[in-house]
Amino acid sequence: NLPKKATIIEVGPRDGLQNEKNFVPTEAKKEFIHTLRRAGMKKMELTSFVSPKWVPQMKDASEIVESCLGGELDIVLAPNRKGVDRALEAGCNSIAVFVGVSHSFNKKNINKTTDESLAELQPIISELKEKDIFIRACISTSFYCPYEGKVSPEDTLALCKNFVDMGVNELSVADTIGMATPKESYQLFSLLKDHLPHVMLTAHFHDTRKMALANVYASLQAGVDRFDTSAGGLGGCPFAPGASGNVATEDVVYMLEEMGIETGIDLDTLIEAIDKVTPHISRSIETGYYRLHQK
Ligand code: HMG
Ligand code: MG
Repeated sequence: NLPKKATIIEVGPRDGLQNEKNFVPTEAKKEFIHTLRRAGMKKMELTSFVSPKWVPQMKDASEIVESCLGGELDIVLAPNRKGVDRALEAGCNSIAVFVGVSHSFNKKNINKTTDESLAELQPIISELKEKDIFIRACISTSFYCPYEGKVSPEDTLALCKNFVDMGVNELSVADTIGMATPKESYQLFSLLKDHLPHVMLTAHFHDTRKMALANVYASLQAGVDRFDTSAGGLGGCPFAPGASGNVATEDVVYMLEEMGIETGIDLDTLIEAIDKVTPHISRSIETGYYRLHQK
């Protein structure tokens, strides 16, 4: 009973690049995004409106948005009032807020406890709903925290429920440091599907321990059909020690398409997109599919 179609949300331009040490030139980011769109990516995280002191790589968020809006879902991240105001001013109509289940992680990532973040975000989310903005809530450390260890599925469910009660459109539930196993993925996503059946549920896996593709498959079996993936497997959160790249888009698309699950993504053009950023990044692309097909 696997789905016939799955939705890919490309997070390469945001999660993929935010952790790169050298500043990737704005023009190269734009070309990356435009080529990803040609590959069939209709839903993407384009950038984030965060503090340029904390994450210098995302300092060109407004410029990126100015020339890259035009997809079906163009998501930008914003952690606070200032980020949301900047995003609205740039003309965005889909905003992702992000909060960690673990207080210690949240504090390191956005300098607030999880409860403080919730209190800050509640009125912001109400206003965004009135403006008819699509709201995604990214839930970090849903399985494990780099500072506190194992996170209980009940705590993750409780935080997700908080956001659903606030009226967000989508939850993106993340294994921030790539520690979850397929069994844990199946169990958590089954729990979330059971308790929160009406919200769009997306799985966001990092591949630190090479479990990400298996976790995609396990969450498909739990009924998930939306996945955050990153071209070339780039990515990682600067405030989560040990986090490595996201599950690679090319691996997920190859697996799903070969299993008869339609994604609408053209792999050849996806490889072209990866080639647009490789000259600017400090790491090499390790995915098997890319190595076999790079030009
Ligand atoms: P703070 O230092 O507590 O903020 O940082 P503040 O309110 O005290 O402000 C300090 C300065 O930053 C001020 O400027 C503000 O104006 C400015 P100054 O007066 O010093 O010149 N500022 C901003 N500037 C631009 N845009 C803003 C903004 N906010 C304040 N939005 C803050 C708090 C939240 C700003 C900071 O911690 C931050 O930017 N954190 C972002 C961290 C981040 O981007 N992490 C990666 C994304 S999350 C992720 O990757 C996980 C995910 O992939 C899922 C998963 O895998 O788990 C989504
Ligand atoms: Mg991430």
